Amino acid sequence: MGEPRRRRRGGVRRYRFAEGPAALTLRIPEVLDSQYGMYVWPCAVVLAQYLWVHRRSLPGKRVLEVGAGVSLPGVLAAKCGAEVTLSDSEELPQCLRNCRRSCLLNRLPHVPVLGLTWGRVSPELLSLAPVDIILGSDVFFDPKDFEDILTTIYFLLEKNPHAQFWTTYQVRSADWSIEALLCKWKLKNIHVPLHSFSADKEHLASSSLPGRHTIEMMIISLAQSDGT
Ligand SMILES: C[S@@+](CC[C@H](N)C(=O)[O-])C[C@H]1O[C@@H](n2cnc3c(N)ncnc32)[C@H](O)[C@@H]1O
Repeated sequence: MGEPRRRRRGGVRRYRFAEGPAALTLRIPEVLDSQYGMYVWPCAVVLAQYLWVHRRSLPGKRVLEVGAGVSLPGVLAAKCGAEVTLSDSEELPQCLRNCRRSCLLNRLPHVPVLGLTWGRVSPELLSLAPVDIILGSDVFFDPKDFEDILTTIYFLLEKNPHAQFWTTYQVRSADWSIEALLCKWKLKNIHVPLHSFSADKEHLASSSLPGRHTIEMMIISLAQSDGT
């Protein structure tokens, strides 16, 4: 069955990252839609800022973004020289299409876009090429998905023990925690303070999206691995 036709409003927003004489402007298409993956979330600007500050380490790195939506962090990583694969739920074809539009608008026609649903061991997940960095911006937004996300991350880290999961999340409820799940899946996390990468601001990358939201960043890796 085809997708229902709906009138949607949207446009293209610019995000400008700058440091001294270096600058990068990305164009991201956004569609006002009830689906979460059709526009940029505050966490994405913060994760993209982290990548921008660490851009010199990105060339040649194999990067997979999960729950990418319109993929601001993944697109930035690709523009900085990483070999990026973008993914979002295989059940959301419109979102995957918008993700491809982000790549095309930023002259990245060869970035692969895959359907990868958290917690599902699919042929796409099984046949993924090796990765060094997994990105996830605002994927911890519904506690019912937390274990599925960490199952997928654990699967990827087991196959790539040196890899790390770089993730930003928005604090929406003081009750939500992934600590017990990290322990269950033998994963460890390191909290990265926003001020350490100049992201402790209400405005970032010419955007007011971070605003006063409480956003945190962490790096998750196998508890037994040193990660690099
Ligand atoms: C809050 S949005 C964040 C989007 C984007 N990462 C950002 O920060 O702008 C959550 C994203 O997770 C995706 N998602 C939701 N459930 C998913 C699932 N079960 N498997 C994979 N992706 C999923 C959504 O399509 C959406 O793109």
